[in-house]
Amino acid sequence: MKVTVFGTGYVGLVTGACLAETGHDVVCVDVDEAKIAALKEGQIPIFEPGLDSIVINNVESGLLAFTTDAESAVAHANMIFIAVGTPPDENGSADLKYVLNVARTVAQYMSRETIIVTKSTVPVGTADKVSAAVAEALQSRDVDIPYYVASNPEFLKEGAAVADFMKPDRIVVGTDAESVEAAMRELYAPFNRNHDRLKFMDVRSAELTKYAANAMLATKISFINEIANIAECVGADIEQVRAGIGSDPRIGYHFIYPGCGYGGSCFPKDVKALVSTASQVGYRAPLLEAVEEVNQAQKSRLFSKLSAALDGDIAGKTFAVWGLAFKPKTDDMREAPSRVLMEAIWAAGGRVKAFDPEAMNETQRIYGQREDLQLMGTKEACLHDADALVICTEWKNFWAPDFDAIKNSLKTPLIVDGRNIYNPHQMTELGFRYIGIGRGN
Ligand code: UDX
Repeated sequence: MKVTVFGTGYVGLVTGACLAETGHDVVCVDVDEAKIAALKEGQIPIFEPGLDSIVINNVESGLLAFTTDAESAVAHANMIFIAVGTPPDENGSADLKYVLNVARTVAQYMSRETIIVTKSTVPVGTADKVSAAVAEALQSRDVDIPYYVASNPEFLKEGAAVADFMKPDRIVVGTDAESVEAAMRELYAPFNRNHDRLKFMDVRSAELTKYAANAMLATKISFINEIANIAECVGADIEQVRAGIGSDPRIGYHFIYPGCGYGGSCFPKDVKALVSTASQVGYRAPLLEAVEEVNQAQKSRLFSKLSAALDGDIAGKTFAVWGLAFKPKTDDMREAPSRVLMEAIWAAGGRVKAFDPEAMNETQRIYGQREDLQLMGTKEACLHDADALVICTEWKNFWAPDFDAIKNSLKTPLIVDGRNIYNPHQMTELGFRYIGIGRGN
C-alpha cells in the first residue's frame, strides 16, 4: 500500500520506517529541511536501537522516501498519517496547532478519497477537530472530496520502538467506517499474523485508550514509589515487598519498579493532558492529580537523600552522576529525574561530573557550557575526587562495576542509588554508605 506520514519525529519516523520494512511504499514529510536532508543521507536524528538500518535499507530499496514537499507527499497516497508533535500548553493540554496545520495542508492538496489517521497522542475529540479543519479547507477550495478521519494511537516504548512496532501487543483503530477498517486490516496484515491484534472501536474510545494505558502505567509507578516511601519510614525493604506483590498475577511484576520518578515524553505529558481533558468536561480527576504530584515529589527525593546524608553540606562539593537519560537505551532527557537532581545540586552550590552512555550530547545541548557541570568520557572518570556517587538511570553497564575502584576514587564512600541496582547488604559489607529507594531496613 502507499502511505504518507506527516512528521518525522519519534513516532512518525518509526511508523514510516517499519511500514516500509514490510513492503509498503512510504513517503515521510516534514517541514524541517535540515532533518529531511539528513534523513535522506541515512542520518537518524534520534538514538533508537535498530532504526538506522531499517531507514537506510528502505531508502536504498526505494520503499521509504523523505521530502519537505507536502503537495507531492499528499499526491503519493490516499492513506495519510498525522504524527506531528502535540506539546503541552501552559495548562497541560496538548497543543493541537501542528496536527490541525497538517489536516489543513492535506485538505489543500488532496484530490481523491483520503483516509487521514491521527497517530500523535491527541486528546479525546481531536479527530472531530481534524475533520472540521479538513471540511473547512475543502470548502474554501470549493471542492467536495470524500474523506475519513481515524485514530490509530501508538504504544511504542523508547529504546524498544522498532520491536514494539514490529510485534505489537495490540493495534487500536478508532473508526466508524467499514472501508477504513478494511484498509487498516490490509495495512497492518504483516503485523497481525498468528492471532488478531487489531482492535476496532469508535474514534473517541481509541483516543481515550491511549491516555488510559499511559495513565495506568504511570499510576503503577507512583503507587510503588509511594509504598517505597512508606517502606523507608517503617523499616521495610520495597524490593522484597515488590517481589511479594508482583507474584499475584492480578498485580504482576511489570511496572512496579520503584525509582526516582518517571520521565520521558509520554507519561508526564499524558497524565497532565488527561487531567486537563477531564477538567474541561467538568470532572476533577483526583487520582491522576495525585499520580503526577507523587512523581514530582519522587524526582526531588534523590537530592533530599543526598543532602540529608551530608547534613545539608552540598556547596563546594562534587558529585558523580551515573545516567542522565530518563531511562536506559535512549538519549532522551525530557523530564529526566537526573535534571531535577543536577539542578538542585547546582542551586545548592555543588558541582556535577556526569556520564551517560548515550545522552551526553543531549545534556550538552540542554545545559551548554557551565563550570559546575563536567561531562566525562567514562563512568569511572566521574568518580575521581567526587564526594558521592548518585545513580539516576539503570544502564546495564552500571550493574556490576568495580566496587573497590569506586571506593578508592570517591572522597567518601557514599552511593545514592535512584534505581536500586545494588544489594544493600553487600554494599554495607564492602564499606559503603548505600542509600536506595524504599530500602528501610
Ligand atoms: C511509555 C509507554 O510505556 C509506551 O507504551 C507509550 O507509548 C509511551 O510512553 P516510554 O516513555 O518510552 O514509554 O518509557 P517506559 O519504558 O514506559 O518508562 C517510562 C518511565 O517510567 C521511565 O522514566 C522509567 O524509568 C519509569 N519506570 C518504568 C519506573 O520508574 N518504574 C517501572 O517499573 C517502569
